[in-house]
Amino acid sequence: LPVGAAATPPLGWNSWNGFGCDVSDALIRQTADALVSSRLRDAGYRYLTIDDCWMAPQRTDGHLVPDPAKFPHGLTTLADYVHARGLRFGLYESAGTRTCAGYPGSLDHETSDARDFAAWGVDYLKYDNCFNGGRPAGDRYATMADALRRTGRPIVLSLCEWGENAPWSGWGARAGGSLWRTTADISDTWTSVLANLAAQVALPTGRPNAWNDPDMLEVGNGGMDTGEYRAQFSLWAVLNAPLIAGNDVRRMTAATRDILLNREVLTVDQDWSGRAGRLVRESGPLQVWAKPMTDGSVAVVFLNVSDDPVPATASAAELGLKPGPRTTHDLWTGANTTGPVRATVAPHDVVMLRVT
Ligand code: GLA
Repeated sequence: LPVGAAATPPLGWNSWNGFGCDVSDALIRQTADALVSSRLRDAGYRYLTIDDCWMAPQRTDGHLVPDPAKFPHGLTTLADYVHARGLRFGLYESAGTRTCAGYPGSLDHETSDARDFAAWGVDYLKYDNCFNGGRPAGDRYATMADALRRTGRPIVLSLCEWGENAPWSGWGARAGGSLWRTTADISDTWTSVLANLAAQVALPTGRPNAWNDPDMLEVGNGGMDTGEYRAQFSLWAVLNAPLIAGNDVRRMTAATRDILLNREVLTVDQDWSGRAGRLVRESGPLQVWAKPMTDGSVAVVFLNVSDDPVPATASAAELGLKPGPRTTHDLWTGANTTGPVRATVAPHDVVMLRVT
């Protein structure tokens, strides 16, 4: 059983991609406010997670303590502030002796750390795998999952992948994880987005409480252009991936806001018809991704990985649609068309359609 339910892929925000170790009480409060005022919360972005580096470098009396300079008011009042805004509070830790950035890890401290997380009001634990001493991943994660369960607080458990100990081989769900990383760390580059996407092709499909996580969004972080960010967002949605924003939501351009708040794309991400989207065809620089929707329509993403525009078409058969009349709705331009499914895709960009 999952420690905390994630019937649909979690949506939220995490500090790592935009801020790294530069986390603070002020950043988290301002981000909570910005998630509300920007309407990201109302669009579904509920989990606000502090990633690595929130802790003091040493335990005190065996307990983790928040860094007093970064979090002078502690985490309980901060979690209250987050909860009061209709958001859920997430924290990062590692199933090793240290976190990936070198702070105290939870290995062999699971019971007391889980109690502290629950007492602080944690709703989501991103649980990493650094400094694990070569001990089996399934055991280390299951120990934390059991400790979290014993607190009685539903806490969504987000796991990390680790080589041959891949959580999608079975132990991730058995250990109570609801989602797990399927790639190395993303970076704010087109190459990295394409590499993480390619790593999804051979995976078993995700499902409720067992979502594949190709890592967090880079939308709005400045290293890619609008088409590239639109591509990451569209492809992650068709994969039923968690959509965890990682940009500075206090200062967003209109282009960034329009991507993160595209309700029709978010609907594709949150729709579960029994199978995540998959790559149905690759022709030169064009990739065709498709996902069956609960209402019988199909979400389609045409991805152009090249530096020149490419024409794209998809047949009813490859989309899994019966032959016959259909309408096509473009989720980025809003245009509706009838007849063959076709588009021209700009360089390093996508066209995302819903075909009925
Ligand atoms: C690992 C994870 C990242 C981030 C860092 C923090 O690299 O994959 O997402 O949490 O640790 O140190």
